[in-house]
Amino acid sequence: MTSSQLEAAWQALEAHRAAIADRPMRELFAADPQRFARFTLRLDDLLLDYSKNRIVPKTMELLRNLARAADVQGAVERMFTGAKLNVSEDRAVLHVALRERGPRAIAVDGADVMPGVRAVLTQMRTFSDGVRGGAWRGQTGATITDVVHIGIGGSSLGPQMVAAALDRGDGPRLHFVSNVDGSHLARCLAGLDAASTLFIVASKSFTTQETMTNARSARAWLVGKLGTEKAVARHFVALSTNTAACGAFGIPESNMFAFWDWVGGRYSSWSAIGLPIALAAGMDAFDQLLDGAHAMDRHFREAPPEANLPMTLALLGIWYANILGAESYAVVPYDQRLARFAAWLQQVDMESNGKTVGTDGRRVTRTTGPIAWGEPGTDAQHSFFQLIHQGTRLVPCDFLVAAEADHGLAGHHAIVVANCFAQAEALMIGRTEDDVRAEMRAAGAAPATVDRVAPHRVFDGNRPSNMIVFRRLDPRTLGVLMALYEHKVFVQGAIWGINSFDQWGVELGKQLAGRILAEIDGSSPPVPHDASTAGLLAYWRSLTGGTAP
Ligand code: F6P
Repeated sequence: MTSSQLEAAWQALEAHRAAIADRPMRELFAADPQRFARFTLRLDDLLLDYSKNRIVPKTMELLRNLARAADVQGAVERMFTGAKLNVSEDRAVLHVALRERGPRAIAVDGADVMPGVRAVLTQMRTFSDGVRGGAWRGQTGATITDVVHIGIGGSSLGPQMVAAALDRGDGPRLHFVSNVDGSHLARCLAGLDAASTLFIVASKSFTTQETMTNARSARAWLVGKLGTEKAVARHFVALSTNTAACGAFGIPESNMFAFWDWVGGRYSSWSAIGLPIALAAGMDAFDQLLDGAHAMDRHFREAPPEANLPMTLALLGIWYANILGAESYAVVPYDQRLARFAAWLQQVDMESNGKTVGTDGRRVTRTTGPIAWGEPGTDAQHSFFQLIHQGTRLVPCDFLVAAEADHGLAGHHAIVVANCFAQAEALMIGRTEDDVRAEMRAAGAAPATVDRVAPHRVFDGNRPSNMIVFRRLDPRTLGVLMALYEHKVFVQGAIWGINSFDQWGVELGKQLAGRILAEIDGSSPPVPHDASTAGLLAYWRSLTGGTAP
């Protein structure tokens, strides 16, 4: 397809907007009794209901034309076959290889990566079984009761989210330390016994300032408590692509779990970076997580666009971001176990698609990555839902809910499910002023009160949402869900023509922090700054006497 065909596909969508965008969804439902059946998709027991969107069948047709014109299918094939889609770093993008479950060979630069993938999975099983079963002991012979995972960004958010979701309390306690603010590590260590604590240093590069600072402090704490450097070998393991730096830190090669430069940080939970998941939930659960992601990978690669879940979610996102002007979308899992899902998704989406330059090196002409945010329901209903229901902004929502709970507390889950479905219904259907007035009158409100209050109680409705329902939140389903969103982000990046796999935007801040740090700790003389930064440094000096604590 040519760029003029792509442009024509965009323009067709813009023209279509005028034709349908203001038709209330409640009218669309009334006009089409098949709307639910027409706009739902299934993968095993997972159902995506996208009927509560401002769309008609023609909308989806035009969106799929756009995907065709952008050659999304070609990009998918290139990813699965190891092409170097990450053009600015000259790297393949192969997190799908990490969850490949069959005998297929996947080559990067002519070499099959699968034997290495399988070897690390075996190493993870041996180690996690050893720690969970008590065979792996600390320096004093104590079994491991606590694991401190030190990492940041993609080396933390995925394992944190998944471990919180799948932890059944039958493994060691997990603690995640990411922030270089010392209070994070200090508070974590305060409650721990060094003899029974294992540290995981998780860093693809093994150079990240936050992670290495925390790792060095943790190492000093451990050696101080146990009185010997030898303890490091029994209490530290590393997850990294940088073997040399792990060795220099003092972690023996036998305690290193490798991964590769074709694994992007935010796509790395499926690699050795997922070790805390195996420690918390067992390696069988980790394998099931991979099985689920693999099932979604196959679906993504093989299902036609009209039956393809990631494609559909992505196209709806494009419709709102590029055609209807939504700046963000909310993801609201009605599941406390998914409390960190939005935080994980934020990095997957915003670090991937927060780009202004296309793969061709030219500035893009259309809006790219949306702002992703969210919190679990029902808590979210009592914080930001007011704005989604009655604010002036358009905020499409994704709701996620399990049909069955696993906590055994009677009465709770029906309330969760009812609230989840009710929020989506209320957002779509709204409430007219006539209805509000009638209800207030029926409740005996005085006419003056009705006039004064009724406008405030009106809901415009017509606010879109997707509903994702699955039987239960087991490891396999979580793998399906994560891969669903990863591939959604992929499709959007392909349509926008950007590189979803680099993150140069985080570099400038890192460089300038290095320069300012050198000034603060006195290792280099002051350098010129803008007036604001210079003023802030002067104020900091006036408060501290210029000494970093
Ligand atoms: O925030 C930038 C980033 O490079 C992320 O992409 C990555 O997940 C994170 O830093 C951590 O990097 P590393 O695993 O190399 O410590």
